[in-house]
Amino acid sequence: MIRLRIKSKEIKLEKIPKHIGIIMDGNGRWAKKRLKPRVFGHKAGMDALQEVTIAASEYGVKVLTVYAFSTENWSRPQDEVKFIMNLPVEFFDKYVPELHKNNVRIQMIGETHRLPQETLQALNKAIQTTRQNSGLVLNFALNYGGRAEITNAVRLIAQDVLDANLNPGDITEDLIANYLMTDHLPYLYRNPDLIIRTSGELRLSNFLPWQSAYSEFYFTPVLWPDFKKAELIKALEEFNRRHRRFGGL
Ligand code: FPP
Repeated sequence: MIRLRIKSKEIKLEKIPKHIGIIMDGNGRWAKKRLKPRVFGHKAGMDALQEVTIAASEYGVKVLTVYAFSTENWSRPQDEVKFIMNLPVEFFDKYVPELHKNNVRIQMIGETHRLPQETLQALNKAIQTTRQNSGLVLNFALNYGGRAEITNAVRLIAQDVLDANLNPGDITEDLIANYLMTDHLPYLYRNPDLIIRTSGELRLSNFLPWQSAYSEFYFTPVLWPDFKKAELIKALEEFNRRHRRFGGL
């Protein structure tokens, strides 16, 4: 049981989702409302991510997978893509030291070999710096697409069958999960218990389609840069009201 006090109200949470997936949506609209360029929203989105990560780690969340860039996002204006790709560089200098102090470990999933060199370098530096940490795993989904992830897994499995390393009869759900990008996460926390999407959109958008089979979904109209600690608590309260049956009674 976790007890929190927010604005003189005491909140009791019986269960904490161990893995939360977040689709951080609405940065552009947040900036537009302030008559600022879209990239201003992405910067504010990084601040929100920092606050949410530290709060989640305080409450005992083990993994936070955040959708930072999808395989479809390349079609955005070049300047914006360039800006987003530069965020990890800024992220490393400005945000990683505090995360490191909070025992957060950084990891990533996605077709990261296609990212620009400096982006990948900054992320690898963050992963290296925090690799011994035992607290929350902040897992960046960058250049990630769920169908591509499953396609790749099928290809690898087919190759293992061809090479006679695997019998088709041995292909189980557990085995498939081992071929997915989330296989580096602690075994018990590979699948998100809760998926949050901000900004009022009601879609999964190719985010963890296999892993979300039994996830609870929380949609909020709040734009991502405004999604701070208090909003996270609302999502956790809602999760506590849900009764997860995993197909049982
Ligand atoms: C969606 O908002 C947001 C993104 C595509 C980028 C999210 C990235 C961050 C919050 C920073 C991540 C940090 C690192 C270190 C990579 P949108 O642009 O689709 O907003 P809109 O729907 O209002 O246009």
